[in-house]
Amino acid sequence: NKKITIAIDGFSSTGKSTLAKQLAKALGYVYVDTGAMYRAITLYAMEHGFIVDEHIDTEGLIKRLPEISLQFLFNPTLGYAEIYLNEHNVEHKIRSIEVSNQVSRIAEISQVRAMLVNQQQHMGENKGVVMDGRDIGTVVFPNAELKLFMTASPETRAERRFKELQEKGHKATYDEVLKNVQERDYIDTHRKDSPLKKADDAVEIDNSGLTIGEQYQKVLDMARAAL
Ligand code: C5P
Repeated sequence: NKKITIAIDGFSSTGKSTLAKQLAKALGYVYVDTGAMYRAITLYAMEHGFIVDEHIDTEGLIKRLPEISLQFLFNPTLGYAEIYLNEHNVEHKIRSIEVSNQVSRIAEISQVRAMLVNQQQHMGENKGVVMDGRDIGTVVFPNAELKLFMTASPETRAERRFKELQEKGHKATYDEVLKNVQERDYIDTHRKDSPLKKADDAVEIDNSGLTIGEQYQKVLDMARAAL
């Protein structure tokens, strides 16, 4: 059986990771959450004083990039990999609203992107990977056999992210979450380096009207057809 690369891009909280995890499980592939990598760099920058209020010390952070190690370790109980930043499990911390409010500005930095894209390409070099993010089909794996571009209305997305944050025990209001989702989408689509956009050969999926099960079935059929 031939192994393929599945690239899933789209706006925030469009259900990319839910779908990616389901596909990886069904196909026996590795799931890579690239947003977690940008979030972990952001957490590092916050914890080391490179972000103070609105100001980012970009030069200072760039100099420290070689000291940042990221790892994904599979957690059998959860059924997916959790991210470690310099040997610490930061899976919970990186989902906070504070990190969410800064991450898109850190993701604008070309040196940060270059480092992470390189690591992502290594993780997928043997195929058999489902990777989700903003630039997977356009930059990381332009030759991926299956590319999906996910969309949903901002309100649907804010509602989802809000529920998810509550379930995980994070404090944030619905309005804060909606504002964050809209701001990140703006920055992500307007940045100079690797802006979020649909690859020409990506299949667009608007899941506002689809259940998680319907969406999964539809995409699993596409993946099987590409095998
Ligand atoms: O996927 P998630 O919402 O966790 O991503 C957080 C942020 O990381 C995005 O809003 C975007 O700014 C950045 N990101 C990126 N490129 C990726 C994945 C995430 O710029 N491939």
